[in-house]
Amino acid sequence: MPKEIASSESVLHHLDQHGTFNTQDYANNLGEDHQKIVGIVKSLEGLGQVVQVEQVTHKHWELTDEGREVARAGSHEAKVFDAVPPEGIVQAELMAAVPNAKIGFSKAVSCGWLRVEKPAGGGAARVCRRVQSVTDVVRLHLAALCDSPTADVSDKLKLEYRKRKLLQEVTSKSYTVSKGAEFTLSVEKPEADLTPEMIASGAWRTKTFKPYNFAALGVPPARGHLHPLLKVRAEFRQIFLEMGFSEMPTNRYVESSFWNFDALFQPQQHPARDAHDTFFVSDPATSLRLPAEYLPRVQQVHSVGGFGSQGYGYDWKLEEAQKNLLRTHTTAVSARMLHRLAQEKEFRPVKYFSIDRVFRNETLDATHLAEFHQVEGLVADRGLTLGHLMGIINEFFKKLGIEQVRFKPAYNPYTEPSMEIFSWHAGLGRWVEIGNSGVFRPEMLLPMGLPEDVNVIAWGLSLERPTMIKYKLDNIRDLCGHRVNLQMVASNPICRLDK
Ligand code: PHE
Repeated sequence: MPKEIASSESVLHHLDQHGTFNTQDYANNLGEDHQKIVGIVKSLEGLGQVVQVEQVTHKHWELTDEGREVARAGSHEAKVFDAVPPEGIVQAELMAAVPNAKIGFSKAVSCGWLRVEKPAGGGAARVCRRVQSVTDVVRLHLAALCDSPTADVSDKLKLEYRKRKLLQEVTSKSYTVSKGAEFTLSVEKPEADLTPEMIASGAWRTKTFKPYNFAALGVPPARGHLHPLLKVRAEFRQIFLEMGFSEMPTNRYVESSFWNFDALFQPQQHPARDAHDTFFVSDPATSLRLPAEYLPRVQQVHSVGGFGSQGYGYDWKLEEAQKNLLRTHTTAVSARMLHRLAQEKEFRPVKYFSIDRVFRNETLDATHLAEFHQVEGLVADRGLTLGHLMGIINEFFKKLGIEQVRFKPAYNPYTEPSMEIFSWHAGLGRWVEIGNSGVFRPEMLLPMGLPEDVNVIAWGLSLERPTMIKYKLDNIRDLCGHRVNLQMVASNPICRLDK
């Protein structure tokens, strides 16, 4: 039989014999740890009506460490008295000779045991006895209380000893246990679960079952957690949706050079198209299905110009445009979507956004990985100006909680004018670059077939930078990759960008 049940039963037997008992007394009698008895009583109480339990608080006096020392070796005043010889002693000498002499001395003087004599002709003060011998009552009292907390010492004195930090009052909790309505001498541990075996054997008929504890906290279910990037993405997405943008399909990590570069009027000798900057795909190495009626116009604008442009004047090669790569920006998606828009019978204004992964063959460091996420927005409409772009960017960043935005002229092959976006970083105390933007060039839009008076304004930024700022990470490897702390992912809070 398990030990715990045996103990429950011995407690029940004790109760049966005595009718009622106190847990502290019982523990003292058995020489058992009080908490262990309390544990058994509590589990009996949990059975229902077997026992009745009532808490009692109990105060008693206990000697402090100092009080115990006084009970053993005498009070400070008695020690000082004993150190004074019948012929008296120089006060300074006395004070140096006895520990705690200051307290002991003033007590001994106020008890009338000692006095101080100042020699008439000057010189050191002397301490002399006023009585032959003394009774150390304090020690006697404390020794008595040490033997029995109920010793006969007046409350007034106890309070005084408490003030002297010799005695302390201690509150203890114990329980008075009496028989309950369903008192029994043998307890069976109630079952917590109804098992198939109990049903099969019919044992369930005679078993007692633990009542449901509806107040118990459940086991937290195992579940997945959103990575911080996904939380911040959800916020960006919400902002775009609030502003009336719709999301572009970004499910194309592998893209042709054509859509990633050529359609964006990025010349084929451009350094970004180098293997040092771009990951080219070796299998399949090329895209063969490029839009047949659009492609010649792209070739034309690059090589000989047109649409009001003189072009770059070089020998544009189809093989270069066919090369597959991991897209270096989501502007490749924007190009596809704008081309598709141009195919519609009648032009209609659109507002598009995307948030997805892009890849760059970069040197890795604390803030750069070979892949990151781009947030991109564009608006296509008639007669849009740089003013519209600045206005919409201001509005967008205001929703992110960024009020101070500045623009700096920049260069992109596919936008003119182009602007880098800076925001004031209060923590760093300087303007930091947060994005890039511009008005798509006619060399990009007109070959697609968009009407001449249609302008497209666009901007892009990374998802990682605001996420790292928001979640106070200063190394991108703490956000992506094998070093990510999964506990960080599990416990980081939801994201509200404007708070
Ligand atoms: N494609 C640009 C980049 O990768 C961002 C951008 C988007 C710039 C749209 C201008 C317009 O940085």
